[in-house]
Amino acid sequence: ADRFKEGRGKPGTPAPLAGRSVALVFEKASTRTRISLEIAVAELGGHPLVLTSAGSQMGRGEPIADTARVLSRMVHAITFRTAGVERLSEMVQYSSVPVLNALTDDSHPMQVLADLQTVRRVRGRLEGLKYAWVGDGNNMANSWIEAAGLLGFELRLACPAGYDPDERYLREAKARGARLLVTRDPKEAAKDADVISTDVFASMGQEQEQAARLRAFAGMMVDNKLTALAHPEHVVLHCLPAHRGEEIAADVIDG
Ligand code: NVA
Repeated sequence: ADRFKEGRGKPGTPAPLAGRSVALVFEKASTRTRISLEIAVAELGGHPLVLTSAGSQMGRGEPIADTARVLSRMVHAITFRTAGVERLSEMVQYSSVPVLNALTDDSHPMQVLADLQTVRRVRGRLEGLKYAWVGDGNNMANSWIEAAGLLGFELRLACPAGYDPDERYLREAKARGARLLVTRDPKEAAKDADVISTDVFASMGQEQEQAARLRAFAGMMVDNKLTALAHPEHVVLHCLPAHRGEEIAADVIDG
């Protein structure tokens, strides 16, 4: 990814997707993931085919299996953003081409890969850094936990009671040797952290819980007081969209 990023628009940059098509299937809203996937496929020489529920038969309840079968006959890979992980599994089961997870309610690995690429660009390495998560134990938190297991880094997560990350992700990452701490105190997570990540309190599909979540997450905002505890060269990450003044202060995200 670093090489392709560096080579963007330069003559001689390889186009490994030449003559190939990638279906980008979205059952949930997307801005950055859709833009970056569509542009990436085009710049790598391929054809991006964007499909949303609203503009396709998926919106009328056509089974994922049938969508997977017809896509597999035409395209060379599928990216899929959906709510339930069982829908992603069905796409995988009935596709004969690779399927990439572009977010489910469970995880968002593409975002964390991109975040890690940013951390490496800014700090020069991933190893030996302290990572913090402040906020909801949601799909993003789960993917940070998975990354901590795969790369063996230290990750401290501050989540309010009742909003802890998925037990299964914690167990699997610990079994791989991740150093994980789940705390209620954002300060404990942020202290000396090299990377502080956060996300909205109410994710897509949880909009009706917004008021209750605002109460539960009181005191969890990533603001200047919290970042002052971190390593002087810390990086703040937010997968966006952001609610300034809720999970992150405007002067932190814009600063
Ligand atoms: N946790 C957020 C991530 C959005 C990119 C959501 O699922 O809505």
